[in-house]
Amino acid sequence: MGIYIVLMGVQGAGKGTQAAILKEKLGLPHVSTGDLFRAMNTLDTPLAKRVQDLMEAGELIPDDVTNEMVEDRLSQDDARRGVILDGYPRNPGQAQFLDNLLAKKGESLTVVPVLELDRETAIKRAEGRRYSPDKQRVYNIYFNPPKVAGKDDVTGEELVQRDDDHREAVERRIDLYYEQTAPLIEYYENAGLVARIDADQAISEVAVDVFAAIARRLMD
Ligand code: AP5
Ligand code: MG
Repeated sequence: MGIYIVLMGVQGAGKGTQAAILKEKLGLPHVSTGDLFRAMNTLDTPLAKRVQDLMEAGELIPDDVTNEMVEDRLSQDDARRGVILDGYPRNPGQAQFLDNLLAKKGESLTVVPVLELDRETAIKRAEGRRYSPDKQRVYNIYFNPPKVAGKDDVTGEELVQRDDDHREAVERRIDLYYEQTAPLIEYYENAGLVARIDADQAISEVAVDVFAAIARRLMD
């Protein structure tokens, strides 16, 4: 059996931040649908353009496109021992699709850590977020600043901001989270998979709680 983790939580809760830590410590791929869609912006196709427009406005990408992309990613060799999913599933249709996809492989979800954070802090975290140009490192001008303001710790390059981290898109994404994604918590709770984590702690403290939740499920 592989380890299949679905990280849930409102925008800015730290899914990407925690997934990067889990990836390093567990050696499992970090599958972020947001990152996969952002990687499409180098393509000059009608689909890539549509995806970019939807993302910039904070809207969701249609389920058929998203599910197909995830199926493709999970069929790759490095995903055989499991994956850390971040930003997927985001609505009941996607959750059902994922359950079926894993069942076809004879697998099932291991645990769903839910990173809990209040709306105001979530907005501030998203607005203050900055990335290294290669997107390998994420900082926050308020909460997790680089050593030198505006510069990547490793390369010294100028940090960049995501196109959808402006107030309007952040608010829209958070509204959509409460409307469409938060109801999944109950769905996973009924399956005994949810571990609620206080995301308003230092990054390392959140990580300890996430690891404990995974360990508990593996010992069940
Ligand atoms: P996606 O990339 O998934 O973005 P999101 O849902 O808006 O979530 P975020 O990346 O904002 O939050 P995060 O929890 O990862 O926060 P992070 O760790 O960076 O999706 C983007 C778009 O793609 C969507 O809007 C949609 O268009 C499309 N899409 C993606 N998936 C889809 C799907 N399944 N279906 C349809 N469409 C889809 O942390 C945030 C900040 O806080 C950082 O600056 C970080 O340094 C800081 N921080 C993190 N943890 C802490 C801490 N403990 N203390 C202090 N600061 C912290
Ligand atoms: Mg993220």
